[in-house]
Amino acid sequence: MNSDNAGEATSDTAVGTANAPGVRAAIARAKLEWEGTVDALPDLICLLDASGHLLRVNRVCERWNLGSIAEVLGRDLHRLLHNRCAAERCQLQESLRSAWLSLREEGTAEFEVRDALLERALHVTLRRMTPGTAGVASEPLAVAVVADVTALHLAREALNTINLELESRVRARTDALADANRDLQNEIARREAAEQALRRSRNELAALSRQLISAQEMERKRIARELHDSVGQQLGAIKYGLERCAELLQQGRPQDSLPILQRAVASLQEGMDEIRSIAMNLRPAVLDDLGAASAVSWFCREFAQSYPSLTLRETVAAVDADIPERLATAVFRSLQELLNNVAKHAQAQNVAVSLARTGDQLVLEVTDDGVGVEASASSASMRSGRGVRNLSERAEMTGGQMRLTAGATGVGTQARIEWQLAAGEGRKSDAA
Ligand SMILES: Nc1ncnc2c1ncn2[C@@H]1O[C@H](COP(=O)(O)OP(=O)(O)OP(=O)(O)O)[C@@H](O)[C@H]1O
Ligand SMILES: [Mg+2]
Ligand SMILES: [Zn+2]
Repeated sequence: MNSDNAGEATSDTAVGTANAPGVRAAIARAKLEWEGTVDALPDLICLLDASGHLLRVNRVCERWNLGSIAEVLGRDLHRLLHNRCAAERCQLQESLRSAWLSLREEGTAEFEVRDALLERALHVTLRRMTPGTAGVASEPLAVAVVADVTALHLAREALNTINLELESRVRARTDALADANRDLQNEIARREAAEQALRRSRNELAALSRQLISAQEMERKRIARELHDSVGQQLGAIKYGLERCAELLQQGRPQDSLPILQRAVASLQEGMDEIRSIAMNLRPAVLDDLGAASAVSWFCREFAQSYPSLTLRETVAAVDADIPERLATAVFRSLQELLNNVAKHAQAQNVAVSLARTGDQLVLEVTDDGVGVEASASSASMRSGRGVRNLSERAEMTGGQMRLTAGATGVGTQARIEWQLAAGEGRKSDAA
């Protein structure tokens, strides 16, 4: 540490009467060593007297461009650091002032300040020296250590910035995760709903197929019963009649056998009619061999023969190629049920059947001029058949829709089934 002449005197006083030449040289050497050490430190080290003025300072004041050691000695700390400070209220000065007060009271003080004039961040520590020498104004009272902590401040700021950035990234990531979580939850809910719908429709399908099986079973029983009750009985009667004829012929009474034979022929005709009507209600081979449009025409002809009192007008504008394979049975069974209902319930004179393909729709219509559904339903003592319900279920299962309304003029009944066709399903009539 460098000093002015006053420094020499202080050192001499400190060693007192020990002024032998060897001792002085040793003291001078120790002083040099000490100064060299203090000058090598990176911090500004100052020795202050009781009124706060610089007694000594290390070479850092030159490195910080505060002035030469000779120039700055005698200044106070504020003048040392801010030689040309013109500020009305200088933060450094105020901090130094209050540090000086607490130094007097507590023996130590420190503070940190970002100094605009020096463009440095400073850490200032004041420490009182041994109390014995404090009474004299020219004696050193305190050591001030001023450290340049700019790098530390910058690092702290950088760290803060990084922390803030990190926090905002964490927040953004958390938000994104929350979004993803919400999406996932929605997806799960959607899938659960879809699964439920699937389960429901599976149950419905199972119920429908159970109904279908029981309907088939009932149909078989009905055919068996019809065969037994009508054709079976008739064949029995005919067999009995023919046996009787044989007996009469053996007895040489051919003319008595004539009326019996005539009755047998009439019975055979009735039996044939029965068989025709039973066959008509089964799936005709023509449906498999030709197609639905041909089967519809065939059924209309058979129906007209079975019910000669009904006048049937048939308009089948669609050709077989217009009707997709998947709809063939539905179209045929629907027509059967609708015409059988007309025969059973309508008491009509005329019935019109039409089957047409218009664009992407296939439409089957059966219109009669009978008593109408409401009149017949009330007179049928509200018997609940399955036919109409089966019709609309079958239509829905195959992508169609059925409507049963009063006829256009308020007379009779109009049944209409519309099937929606997929693009390119079946061929158009003109293309066929
Ligand atoms: N064309 C029609 N004219 C008048 N009434 C009709 C006609 N079609 C149906 N109905 C009435 O609607 C009711 C329901 O018909 P649905 O076909 O469901 O039953 P069903 O023919 O009586 O019995 P099932 O068809 O099960 O043998 C019939 O009982 C009848 O009263
Ligand atoms: Mg019916
Ligand atoms: Zn200042």
